[in-house]
Amino acid sequence: DWTMENYAEKAIKDIREKVGDGKVLLALSGGVDSSVLAALLSKAVGRQLTCIFVDHGFMRKNEGDEVEAAFKDWDINFVRVNAKEQFMSKLRGVSDPETKRKTIGEEFIRVFEAEAKKIGHVDFLAQGTIYPDVIESGAGDAAVIKSHHNVGGLPDYVDFKEIIEPLRMLFKDETRKLGQELGLSETLVWRQPFPGPGLAIRIIGEITDDKLEILQDADWIFREEIAKAGLDRSINQYFAVLTNNRSVGVMGDFRTYDYTLALRAVETTDFMTAEFSRIPYEVLEAASRRIVNEVKNINRVCYDITTKPPATIEWE
Ligand code: XMP
Repeated sequence: DWTMENYAEKAIKDIREKVGDGKVLLALSGGVDSSVLAALLSKAVGRQLTCIFVDHGFMRKNEGDEVEAAFKDWDINFVRVNAKEQFMSKLRGVSDPETKRKTIGEEFIRVFEAEAKKIGHVDFLAQGTIYPDVIESGAGDAAVIKSHHNVGGLPDYVDFKEIIEPLRMLFKDETRKLGQELGLSETLVWRQPFPGPGLAIRIIGEITDDKLEILQDADWIFREEIAKAGLDRSINQYFAVLTNNRSVGVMGDFRTYDYTLALRAVETTDFMTAEFSRIPYEVLEAASRRIVNEVKNINRVCYDITTKPPATIEWE
């Protein structure tokens, strides 16, 4: 009968058969899919696997270090590349959403390729494609609404023989179950989805170091308040967006002219359609109060109450 335990065993056996004594390369993002894949491959082929984690600098607060810490002790080769300056220099003056995405996607490939070249020939490139990615990329026009740089984007620049995508048949909840089965840490298994380009597409307009820090701090507080309220597993995705809008406010005796932050939280099963989450006002209030008090340059907080469609989950 079908259980996740059996599934894991069979997947490990299949991977071993296919890979033999070959070398496997994986771009690890720290998201659920690539983390579960890393765990699966680690059990299957151990140090024949090299994971390259390209830290583009647009992770959530502390997340780059968390990813590194989570994988340090696994039986794999783990490489972290700190490439924030490189990405920032390519994004200077860029404010168009699709240009941002494409620039980040291309730079990602360049950085990954440079690192992969150091390893030399690999036999297999592993990708954490899950079933919903397969459907969405095949959906014709729907696929170009936003370019997702995690599907089908990696191939021809590393010298390798074949792509393996062992999660291709799994839905998100099954991927998480597999991760649990494999002993992956709770923080990784329950990590909410995070777009490849990261916070870069949650900063509307040009990205600067200041804006990045403002958003990281605000997003951190929102996540803390959601967790405190015990909502962190029921809301499927929740995050802050730094709009490019500034408005007038008052702080003590002074007039301020600062950024508007938007909070977004959605409930969805497949991320193709979504409802905004009915977060209790008290939770929103606590988050808003803390954000305007603790984060400099934000004097107004809004909550996004649109469904997908017509809005998308991300703002860019
Ligand atoms: P949208 O904004 O299109 O997002 O409603 C749907 C889901 O996809 C995530 N997303 C991405 N995931 N690479 C990813 O891996 C990307 O480039 C990307 N863009 C959006 C988004 O966070 C949401 O969960």
